[in-house]
Amino acid sequence: MKVEVHKTYDELSKAAADLIASVIKNKPNALICVASGHTPTGTFKFLRDHIDAGLDISKTVFVSLDEWLGIDPSDAGSCISMLRKDFFDHVKARIELFDVLAKDPRKECDRMNKFIDDNGGLDVMLVGIGLNGHIGMNEPGTPFDKYAHVSDLAEETKTSGQKYFTKPTTLSKGITLGLRHFAECRLPILMANGSKKSEIIKKVIDSPITEKIPASIIHRISQALVMLDAEAASRLPQSL
Ligand code: PGA
Repeated sequence: MKVEVHKTYDELSKAAADLIASVIKNKPNALICVASGHTPTGTFKFLRDHIDAGLDISKTVFVSLDEWLGIDPSDAGSCISMLRKDFFDHVKARIELFDVLAKDPRKECDRMNKFIDDNGGLDVMLVGIGLNGHIGMNEPGTPFDKYAHVSDLAEETKTSGQKYFTKPTTLSKGITLGLRHFAECRLPILMANGSKKSEIIKKVIDSPITEKIPASIIHRISQALVMLDAEAASRLPQSL
């Protein structure tokens, strides 16, 4: 695992976008998982600049990390609505999504696992981190060896997730790629910005590997890259 600290959110976002663009240049048909949420919005902005400047994503396949169950995908707070607003409404790209309206969400997980397998596994997985250390909707206690699965949301996620919605919204379950996808990905990127994330980042970096803190899995992933801005890294020792 490697930790990279960038001075500002803009610099962090640009570095992540440059990295993803270089993966796509080397492997045009790369399979790239992207998270929604506030953390990657800057990355999407800079990635759009790459595409506007000629980066060819016509063979690239994007996969969405997770989605709320029980929320209509057209709701502005759904993960796909956020991804569309930040990225997919602006570029012509292929995206593979969880169908949250599927009758059997577990079968939908199997379908997504097979899709990823059939496409040779994930080249990049860009994820944020929750204040409780979750990755995607892999909440504390989720076994590290799970692929896509239906998740019971942690209380903290039900509360913090309200920030995406225009009105109070009942959140209870989600559907998410698993931590095993993150561990097996060729370039797993855990990204965090802002002082609000500094405490959980310190906890994750100091923590032994434990399923109680999902993001602590990074300690076992040699190819994992933790990308932070200075505020998120503010509680870490300078030497990191
Ligand atoms: P955020 O969410 O990017 O909106 O901070 C991250 C997360 O909860 O996984």
